[in-house]
Amino acid sequence: MAEFNEVYARAGYYDIAFSRDISREVDFIFAEYARLNGRPLRSLLEIACGPGYHARAFAKQNVETFGLDLRPEMIDFARDKAKDDGVDVHWIAADMRGFKLPHAVDAIITMYDSLDCLSDNDDIVDHFKTVAANLTPQGIYLFELTHPRDCSMHGYGNHVYSGEKNGTKVEIKWAVNNPRHDAFTQVAEVETTLRVIEHGKETLYRDRARERYLSPQELVALTKLAGGLRVVDCYGDFIPGLRMDNSPASRRMIFVLQKLS
Ligand SMILES: C[S@@+](CC[C@H](N)C(=O)[O-])C[C@H]1O[C@@H](n2cnc3c(N)ncnc32)[C@H](O)[C@@H]1O
Repeated sequence: MAEFNEVYARAGYYDIAFSRDISREVDFIFAEYARLNGRPLRSLLEIACGPGYHARAFAKQNVETFGLDLRPEMIDFARDKAKDDGVDVHWIAADMRGFKLPHAVDAIITMYDSLDCLSDNDDIVDHFKTVAANLTPQGIYLFELTHPRDCSMHGYGNHVYSGEKNGTKVEIKWAVNNPRHDAFTQVAEVETTLRVIEHGKETLYRDRARERYLSPQELVALTKLAGGLRVVDCYGDFIPGLRMDNSPASRRMIFVLQKLS
Protein backbone atom coordinates (compact mmCIF):
# COMPACT_ATOMS: atom_id res chain seq x y z
CA MET A 1 0.00 0.00 0.00
CA ALA A 2 1.24 3.45 -0.85
CA GLU A 3 0.73 4.70 2.65
CA PHE A 4 3.30 2.28 4.07
CA ASN A 5 6.16 3.62 2.00
CA GLU A 6 9.35 3.62 4.02
CA VAL A 7 10.11 7.30 3.76
CA TYR A 8 7.36 7.93 6.31
CA ALA A 9 8.97 5.47 8.75
CA ARG A 10 12.14 7.63 8.71
CA ALA A 11 10.38 10.56 10.29
CA GLY A 12 13.53 12.46 11.29
CA TYR A 13 14.82 12.47 7.71
CA TYR A 14 11.38 13.43 6.38
CA ASP A 15 11.45 16.39 8.73
CA ILE A 16 14.87 17.55 7.51
CA ALA A 17 13.65 17.59 3.89
CA PHE A 18 10.12 18.91 4.44
CA SER A 19 10.08 21.21 7.46
CA ARG A 20 8.87 24.62 6.28
CA ASP A 21 7.14 27.80 7.34
CA ILE A 22 3.41 27.05 7.48
CA SER A 23 2.28 30.20 9.34
CA ARG A 24 0.45 31.62 6.28
CA GLU A 25 -1.50 28.37 5.98
CA VAL A 26 -2.50 28.44 9.62
CA ASP A 27 -3.69 32.08 9.34
CA PHE A 28 -5.72 31.15 6.24
CA ILE A 29 -7.45 28.25 8.03
CA PHE A 30 -8.31 30.42 11.06
CA ALA A 31 -9.74 33.09 8.73
CA GLU A 32 -11.70 30.64 6.57
CA TYR A 33 -13.29 29.01 9.62
CA ALA A 34 -14.27 32.37 11.12
CA ARG A 35 -15.63 33.59 7.75
CA LEU A 36 -17.89 30.55 7.39
CA ASN A 37 -18.96 30.27 11.03
CA GLY A 38 -18.84 33.75 12.50
CA ARG A 39 -16.84 32.54 15.49
CA PRO A 40 -13.23 31.55 16.17
CA LEU A 41 -11.95 28.04 15.60
CA ARG A 42 -11.73 26.09 18.84
CA SER A 43 -10.76 22.53 17.89
CA LEU A 44 -8.97 20.88 14.97
CA LEU A 45 -7.72 17.55 13.66
CA GLU A 46 -4.76 17.30 11.30
CA ILE A 47 -4.98 14.09 9.25
CA ALA A 48 -1.81 12.51 7.81
CA CYS A 49 -0.02 14.91 10.09
CA GLY A 50 3.50 13.54 9.61
CA PRO A 51 5.71 15.55 12.02
CA GLY A 52 2.61 17.59 12.92
CA TYR A 53 3.69 21.01 11.63
CA HIS A 54 0.13 22.31 11.47
CA ALA A 55 -1.15 20.45 14.54
CA ARG A 56 1.61 21.93 16.69
CA ALA A 57 1.07 25.42 15.29
CA PHE A 58 -2.67 25.33 16.11
CA ALA A 59 -1.99 23.93 19.58
CA LYS A 60 0.38 26.87 20.18
CA GLN A 61 -2.57 29.16 19.51
CA ASN A 62 -4.72 27.47 22.16
CA VAL A 63 -6.80 25.39 19.77
CA GLU A 64 -7.61 21.92 21.12
CA THR A 65 -5.74 19.82 18.58
CA PHE A 66 -5.55 16.21 17.41
CA GLY A 67 -2.88 14.84 15.06
CA LEU A 68 -3.50 11.57 13.21
CA ASP A 69 -1.12 9.53 11.04
CA LEU A 70 -0.99 5.94 9.90
CA ARG A 71 2.71 5.64 10.74
CA PRO A 72 3.45 5.17 14.46
CA GLU A 73 7.01 6.40 13.76
CA MET A 74 5.62 9.73 12.59
CA ILE A 75 3.34 9.98 15.61
CA ASP A 76 6.26 9.28 17.99
CA PHE A 77 8.36 11.92 16.23
CA ALA A 78 5.52 14.48 16.31
CA ARG A 79 4.90 13.77 20.02
CA ASP A 80 8.58 14.44 20.84
CA LYS A 81 8.49 17.68 18.82
CA ALA A 82 5.35 18.82 20.64
CA LYS A 83 7.06 18.12 23.97
CA ASP A 84 10.02 20.26 22.82
CA ASP A 85 7.56 23.00 21.80
CA GLY A 86 5.76 22.74 25.16
CA VAL A 87 2.35 22.18 23.55
CA ASP A 88 -0.40 19.60 24.10
CA VAL A 89 -1.68 17.66 21.11
CA HIS A 90 -3.68 14.41 21.22
CA TRP A 91 -1.76 12.06 18.91
CA ILE A 92 -3.47 9.13 17.20
CA ALA A 93 -1.92 6.40 15.03
CA ALA A 94 -4.80 5.46 12.71
CA ASP A 95 -5.99 5.21 9.12
CA MET A 96 -7.71 8.22 7.59
CA ARG A 97 -10.41 5.95 6.14
CA GLY A 98 -11.95 5.08 9.48
CA PHE A 99 -11.34 6.73 12.85
CA LYS A 100 -13.42 8.13 15.68
CA LEU A 101 -12.33 11.08 17.77
CA PRO A 102 -13.47 11.33 21.42
CA HIS A 103 -15.59 14.29 20.29
CA ALA A 104 -16.29 16.19 17.07
CA VAL A 105 -13.98 19.07 16.05
CA ASP A 106 -14.56 22.39 14.28
CA ALA A 107 -12.03 21.80 11.50
CA ILE A 108 -10.21 18.90 9.89
CA ILE A 109 -7.25 19.44 7.56
CA THR A 110 -5.16 17.19 5.30
CA MET A 111 -2.15 19.04 3.93
CA TYR A 112 0.55 18.57 1.34
CA ASP A 113 -0.94 16.02 -1.07
CA SER A 114 -1.63 13.47 1.63
CA LEU A 115 -5.01 12.55 0.11
CA ASP A 116 -3.38 11.08 -3.01
CA CYS A 117 -2.61 7.81 -1.19
CA LEU A 118 -6.33 6.95 -1.36
CA SER A 119 -6.27 5.17 -4.66
CA ASP A 120 -9.84 4.15 -5.32
CA ASN A 121 -13.19 5.90 -5.17
CA ASP A 122 -14.51 3.74 -2.31
CA ASP A 123 -11.52 4.75 -0.14
CA ILE A 124 -12.17 8.42 -0.85
CA VAL A 125 -15.90 8.16 -0.15
CA ASP A 126 -15.20 6.27 3.11
CA HIS A 127 -12.71 8.98 4.04
CA PHE A 128 -15.19 11.82 3.39
CA LYS A 129 -17.87 10.00 5.41
CA THR A 130 -15.43 9.54 8.31
CA VAL A 131 -14.46 13.22 8.17
CA ALA A 132 -18.12 14.34 8.16
CA ALA A 133 -18.86 12.10 11.18
CA ASN A 134 -16.07 13.77 13.18
CA LEU A 135 -17.00 17.42 12.45
CA THR A 136 -19.16 19.74 14.54
CA PRO A 137 -22.22 21.24 12.72
CA GLN A 138 -20.96 23.66 9.98
CA GLY A 139 -17.42 22.43 10.65
CA ILE A 140 -14.97 22.62 7.77
CA TYR A 141 -12.72 20.14 5.99
CA LEU A 142 -9.76 21.70 4.17
CA PHE A 143 -7.38 19.63 2.06
CA GLU A 144 -4.47 20.74 -0.07
CA LEU A 145 -3.21 19.09 -3.26
CA THR A 146 -0.70 19.99 -5.97
CA HIS A 147 -2.09 22.14 -8.80
CA PRO A 148 -2.81 19.91 -11.84
CA ARG A 149 -0.34 22.01 -13.86
CA ASP A 150 2.50 20.54 -11.73
CA CYS A 151 1.33 16.94 -11.36
CA SER A 152 -1.47 15.38 -13.37
CA MET A 153 -2.35 12.89 -16.07
CA HIS A 154 -0.36 15.13 -18.47
CA GLY A 155 2.92 14.73 -16.59
CA TYR A 156 4.07 13.76 -13.12
CA GLY A 157 6.93 16.27 -12.88
CA ASN A 158 10.23 16.01 -10.99
CA HIS A 159 9.98 17.02 -7.37
CA VAL A 160 13.13 17.32 -5.27
CA TYR A 161 13.15 18.23 -1.55
CA SER A 162 16.28 18.74 0.52
CA GLY A 163 17.52 20.11 3.80
CA GLU A 164 20.24 19.95 6.40
CA LYS A 165 20.01 19.79 10.20
CA ASN A 166 22.83 19.31 12.72
CA GLY A 167 25.23 18.17 10.01
CA THR A 168 22.80 15.62 8.47
CA LYS A 169 21.95 16.28 4.82
CA VAL A 170 18.84 14.79 3.24
CA GLU A 171 17.64 14.84 -0.38
CA ILE A 172 14.38 13.24 -1.50
CA LYS A 173 13.67 12.76 -5.22
CA TRP A 174 9.99 12.20 -5.91
CA ALA A 175 10.18 10.48 -8.46
CA VAL A 176 13.12 8.82 -10.24
CA ASN A 177 11.24 6.57 -12.70
CA ASN A 178 9.46 9.18 -14.80
CA PRO A 179 6.06 7.76 -13.75
CA ARG A 180 2.81 8.14 -15.66
CA HIS A 181 -0.63 7.81 -14.20
CA ASP A 182 -2.47 4.77 -15.53
CA ALA A 183 -4.93 6.09 -18.11
CA PHE A 184 -7.89 4.31 -16.51
CA THR A 185 -7.19 4.03 -12.77
CA GLN A 186 -5.37 7.38 -12.59
CA VAL A 187 -2.88 5.73 -10.23
CA ALA A 188 0.88 6.20 -10.74
CA GLU A 189 3.50 3.71 -9.53
CA VAL A 190 6.10 6.12 -8.23
CA GLU A 191 9.70 5.31 -7.29
CA THR A 192 11.49 7.64 -4.93
CA THR A 193 14.96 7.94 -3.43
CA LEU A 194 16.02 9.23 -0.04
CA ARG A 195 19.72 10.15 0.11
CA VAL A 196 21.18 10.75 3.55
CA ILE A 197 24.67 12.01 4.36
CA GLU A 198 25.35 11.55 8.07
CA HIS A 199 28.64 11.27 9.99
CA GLY A 200 30.49 11.37 6.64
CA LYS A 201 28.58 8.32 5.34
CA GLU A 202 26.13 8.37 2.42
CA THR A 203 23.11 6.03 2.39
CA LEU A 204 20.55 5.71 -0.37
CA TYR A 205 17.09 4.32 0.39
CA ARG A 206 14.79 3.39 -2.47
CA ASP A 207 11.05 3.36 -2.06
CA ARG A 208 7.78 3.00 -3.97
CA ALA A 209 4.43 4.73 -3.69
CA ARG A 210 1.07 4.44 -5.43
CA GLU A 211 -0.55 7.81 -6.00
CA ARG A 212 -3.96 8.68 -7.40
CA TYR A 213 -4.49 11.74 -9.54
CA LEU A 214 -7.70 13.45 -8.44
CA SER A 215 -9.20 16.07 -10.72
CA PRO A 216 -11.16 18.97 -9.19
CA GLN A 217 -14.48 17.78 -10.64
CA GLU A 218 -13.92 14.23 -9.38
CA LEU A 219 -13.43 15.64 -5.92
CA VAL A 220 -16.67 17.60 -6.25
CA ALA A 221 -18.52 14.45 -7.42
CA LEU A 222 -17.02 12.21 -4.70
CA THR A 223 -17.97 14.76 -2.04
CA LYS A 224 -21.60 14.65 -3.25
CA LEU A 225 -21.52 10.85 -3.40
CA ALA A 226 -20.27 10.60 0.19
CA GLY A 227 -22.98 12.97 1.49
CA GLY A 228 -22.76 15.01 4.68
CA LEU A 229 -20.42 17.65 3.22
CA ARG A 230 -20.75 20.41 0.61
CA VAL A 231 -17.99 22.04 -1.45
CA VAL A 232 -17.65 25.67 -0.39
CA ASP A 233 -14.71 26.70 -2.53
CA CYS A 234 -11.45 25.70 -4.19
CA TYR A 235 -8.53 28.09 -3.75
CA GLY A 236 -5.27 28.42 -5.71
CA ASP A 237 -3.14 29.40 -2.72
CA PHE A 238 -3.43 30.26 0.96
CA ILE A 239 -4.58 33.75 0.03
CA PRO A 240 -8.15 34.79 0.88
CA GLY A 241 -10.29 35.01 -2.25
CA LEU A 242 -7.69 33.59 -4.67
CA ARG A 243 -9.72 30.99 -6.55
CA MET A 244 -8.04 28.02 -8.19
CA ASP A 245 -7.62 28.64 -11.93
CA ASN A 246 -4.91 28.61 -14.62
CA SER A 247 -3.19 31.82 -13.55
CA PRO A 248 0.44 31.64 -12.32
CA ALA A 249 -0.69 32.91 -8.91
CA SER A 250 -2.84 29.80 -8.52
CA ARG A 251 -0.24 27.22 -7.53
CA ARG A 252 -2.09 24.71 -5.31
CA MET A 253 -5.54 23.10 -5.19
CA ILE A 254 -7.08 23.83 -1.79
CA PHE A 255 -10.59 22.50 -1.24
CA VAL A 256 -12.82 23.76 1.55
CA LEU A 257 -15.83 21.57 2.36
CA GLN A 258 -18.41 22.26 5.04
CA LYS A 259 -20.51 19.83 7.07
CA LEU A 260 -24.17 19.97 6.08
CA SER A 261 -26.56 20.51 8.93
C1 LIG B 1 3.23 13.84 2.36
S1 LIG B 1 3.21 13.36 4.06
C2 LIG B 1 2.49 14.82 4.72
C3 LIG B 1 2.88 15.08 6.14
C4 LIG B 1 2.47 16.43 6.68
N1 LIG B 1 1.03 16.64 6.59
C5 LIG B 1 3.19 17.58 6.03
O1 LIG B 1 2.54 18.61 5.77
O2 LIG B 1 4.41 17.53 5.82
C6 LIG B 1 1.91 12.17 4.05
C7 LIG B 1 1.62 11.55 5.41
O3 LIG B 1 0.42 10.76 5.25
C8 LIG B 1 0.52 9.62 6.07
N2 LIG B 1 -0.45 8.65 5.56
C9 LIG B 1 -0.39 7.95 4.42
N3 LIG B 1 -1.47 7.18 4.28
C10 LIG B 1 -2.26 7.40 5.34
C11 LIG B 1 -3.53 6.88 5.77
N4 LIG B 1 -4.19 5.98 5.04
N5 LIG B 1 -4.06 7.33 6.92
C12 LIG B 1 -3.40 8.25 7.69
N6 LIG B 1 -2.18 8.75 7.34
C13 LIG B 1 -1.62 8.34 6.18
C14 LIG B 1 1.96 9.21 5.95
O4 LIG B 1 2.38 8.34 6.99
C15 LIG B 1 2.67 10.58 5.95
O5 LIG B 1 3.07 10.96 7.24
